[in-house]
Amino acid sequence: MADIIEKPAVIDPPPNLRDYDAMFGTFKWQDAYDRIEWFEDGTLNAAASAVDRHAESSRKNKVAMYWEGESAEKYTFLELSSLSNRFANVLTDIGIERRDRVFIFLPRVPELYVSFLGILKTGAIAGTMFSAFGPEGLYDRLHDSGARYLITNSKLLERVQGIRDDLPDLERVILVDGTDHSGTANAADASDAANAANAADVAENDVIYSEAIASASRKFDVARMSPDDPAFMLYTSGTTGKPKGVVHRHLAIAQQHATTEWVLDLHEEDIYWCTADPGWVTGISYGMLGPWSCGSSIVVHDGRFDPNIWYSMIERYQVSVWYSAPTAFRMLMRAEGAHRGHDLASLRHICSVGEPLNSEIVYWGIRTFGLPIHDNFWQTETGGILIANYPSVPIKPGWMGKPIPGIKAAIVDEAGKEVSRGVEGNLALLPNFPSMMLTIWKNPAKYEEYFMGGWYLTGDRALQHEDGYFLFIGRADDVINTSGERVGPFEVESALIAHPAIVEAGVIGKPDPLRGEIIKAFVVLSDGYEPSEELEAEVRRFVKTRLAGHAYPREFEFVETLPKTRSGKIVRRMLRAQELGLPIGDVSTLE
Ligand code: PRX
Repeated sequence: MADIIEKPAVIDPPPNLRDYDAMFGTFKWQDAYDRIEWFEDGTLNAAASAVDRHAESSRKNKVAMYWEGESAEKYTFLELSSLSNRFANVLTDIGIERRDRVFIFLPRVPELYVSFLGILKTGAIAGTMFSAFGPEGLYDRLHDSGARYLITNSKLLERVQGIRDDLPDLERVILVDGTDHSGTANAADASDAANAANAADVAENDVIYSEAIASASRKFDVARMSPDDPAFMLYTSGTTGKPKGVVHRHLAIAQQHATTEWVLDLHEEDIYWCTADPGWVTGISYGMLGPWSCGSSIVVHDGRFDPNIWYSMIERYQVSVWYSAPTAFRMLMRAEGAHRGHDLASLRHICSVGEPLNSEIVYWGIRTFGLPIHDNFWQTETGGILIANYPSVPIKPGWMGKPIPGIKAAIVDEAGKEVSRGVEGNLALLPNFPSMMLTIWKNPAKYEEYFMGGWYLTGDRALQHEDGYFLFIGRADDVINTSGERVGPFEVESALIAHPAIVEAGVIGKPDPLRGEIIKAFVVLSDGYEPSEELEAEVRRFVKTRLAGHAYPREFEFVETLPKTRSGKIVRRMLRAQELGLPIGDVSTLE
């Protein structure tokens, strides 16, 4: 029967994947720097390494990006290089300086990709924000980073208007509207843009992208950067406080390049689709920089998840390497049969990141595509892949894989001492790899908190088998992972208590078969409010529009009180224990 398949504990690597083992034996990061011809004089620029290198070679007319949104477009390496040069000139004309922060708040339109590269070329720091963010999520990021310029469109600008006066560092908004994406705006586009801009109530010195880029030069003298100069930053959540600005350096491209080749097995001839949004780290490291640095063509889909559309994308663009996340695979698995009728024979390698990849999904991959799904592990802070079921090693379904060459990973106890194989502990790494974060923006103390006894602590619990494979167990803290997106409970709690009906809130991740976890809120209502479905819906909408469209509680429980420590901190792990029916423990002793 077709449904009954073998479920081996170890799957031999498919024979069509390259064997990197010989090279891995003696690998040192220095070898990667020496191997990279674009790093000759000790300086580099990640945007030039990723794109301009190809624009100056015989690959210049090769398609770098197949883009599909409301229409379909293609960009060659030469076009991407010229457009990002133009955008770098636009920024230079308005006075950008090295290390200025420029944030992008756009859907996955080509201008997002062009402007990201252009910012890096000037030596400024690019920040990206997922288009589901609401005013509060935007404020936290723009305010903390002191962003000087913001690139957005007139629709999304509406979410910024209410906070703009509270952002003293934000000098200008660059508005992306009515462009034909290529930067050669025609009269109709320019007037559309002007109309949209009027409607959006722009400030006097704001810039209309299409107009500015059309008149900017295609030549730009790309800033040569030191390896440790910052290139981009992303905000990510911890247990306490507001999101932290993780800053990455130009040198990270060395690891993004190497791991794109070794783990994603990406090569020049591949057509590659990373489904992550550049508002998250995967969409930057492996949605742009890594694959372009390998000279591959990427596919971008600007639209919502839909199994039929996703399979059509693979079929239409003949995608050969696909990088996605467990929740997306689980959603496809639920849409059983949706792949039928699509020719998916172009696929030759599939990888996954961001959440535990249950072995069932690996077997589903074999059943559906004739390919196992290769798990790998890393984080916003690490900028690049660390642990992986890389191509030439057997896959152990359910396990994250082994450290890649150049990475020393270990399991340590609470004192930072390595534990024996098979024992659960904290997943730690030697922080000596090129894509390791440079710092936490304006918060060196937070940065220091990550380290103990020379180890970088990931905040994850895991164990290592005798054979070297790592198994993910869970977070060591209260951070929630919903659909592969990392959400800090504190931010959601803060958004909840801003609603007049709520006095106190405790937020946890509740295990969910589809999304890994969903956000569950325990709330204490203010006097005069009664629990009701209407109130729940209203609060949900409130959090969605203020904080973010993806980080709202799907489940509510109205309670009289919340478990607290003696010093008054909400004990989320008791809420979780209660939710899962586990022993609750004694809270009265907690400080
Ligand atoms: O808890 C781990 C989980 O996602 C966290 C990192 O999230 P973020 O910084 O948003 O980066 C996601 C994409 C790189 C980790 O601390 N995580 C990531 N990969 C895996 C994973 N959990 C289990 N298995 C994985 N392969």
